[in-house]
Amino acid sequence: MQKTEQLIYKLRDTHSLTTEEYETLITHRTPESAGLLAAFALVQKQQIYGNDIYVRGLIEVSNICRNDCLYCGIRGSNKNCDRYRLTGEDILECCAEGYELGFRTFVMQGGEDGTFSDAFLTDLIREIKNRYPDCAVTLSLGERSRDSYAALKEAGADRYLLRHETADKSHYEKLHPANLSWDNRMRCLRDLKELGYQTGCGFMVGSPYQTDAMLAKDLKFVETFRPDMCGIGPFIPHKDTPFRDHPAGSVELTLYLLSILRLIHPPLLLPATTALGTLAENGREKGILAGANVVMPNLSPSAVRRKYMLYDNKLSDGAESAQALETLRKRMESIGCTVVVARGDIKK
Ligand code: 5AD
Repeated sequence: MQKTEQLIYKLRDTHSLTTEEYETLITHRTPESAGLLAAFALVQKQQIYGNDIYVRGLIEVSNICRNDCLYCGIRGSNKNCDRYRLTGEDILECCAEGYELGFRTFVMQGGEDGTFSDAFLTDLIREIKNRYPDCAVTLSLGERSRDSYAALKEAGADRYLLRHETADKSHYEKLHPANLSWDNRMRCLRDLKELGYQTGCGFMVGSPYQTDAMLAKDLKFVETFRPDMCGIGPFIPHKDTPFRDHPAGSVELTLYLLSILRLIHPPLLLPATTALGTLAENGREKGILAGANVVMPNLSPSAVRRKYMLYDNKLSDGAESAQALETLRKRMESIGCTVVVARGDIKK
């Protein structure tokens, strides 16, 4: 048996490899190893989630950001970004429309917009939970203090998504300005988990300076941190960032990593991300067939959608939009999956 094949069986049976073994699995991948990993990933997903695909309505609440991450199109210093911020009312309208469409999770995602105070957010979260007690509220608003995370949790937030971006500290420092620290990122993730949030981390595939050894560290991090969700997508350059000339990440490698993540922690919620859908024809379907089980269509008001440009050509309409849920349903059915109306909590 080939080395990679042995590692795949080991991963399937023990849900764990050493960091070096993850690296070998990545570096020596072949179409055959990808096929075997995907087949095992689908078996494990099927055993836990059947054919169900969970959907979340993504509300991009603000593209105003105090940070200046080198890869991101809404980085604070990008003068060409047309800034907006939704009001509480706007957000509640998105929820109303989303509920009608069948969404039972609302994800409020945004840049680190200083005006989103705890008071504003706790009022809003309470109002959403009041109106839609059967829905989960997910926040994705970046780094905040432990006290802030605690207050938002107390108000009813169920989940928090904060990608770790890279598990390698020196790599983190190459992707972020000096005022952002990997240690604080990790502190946030630990706090979120301790406070009882269903917690999501994640990373980009093919970000500048990334090596296979770093991706192996990301996988080991997921194995040990045990998040409830892990969002991964290919890096895509944005024309107004320092990484504008850097090539986009690989779709094939992203799919390969999705299969590995499914085997590391079979119940993991794994989204087929917008970045994957942007870079590949039928990218989301490919993600699902590699082991993903979540899609997050865009529920933002159409007037602001094109302004939340994290990277060039980011999809926001077509099957990517929440309004096209019927299209998404059909596309999922064409690959044997069913979009379900449910909160879609992790099955432990
Ligand atoms: N390409 C791909 N993903 C990106 N993100 C930000 N900028 C890019 C880009 N250029 C991802 C980051 C962030 C999430 C909201 O979007 O991982 O955490």
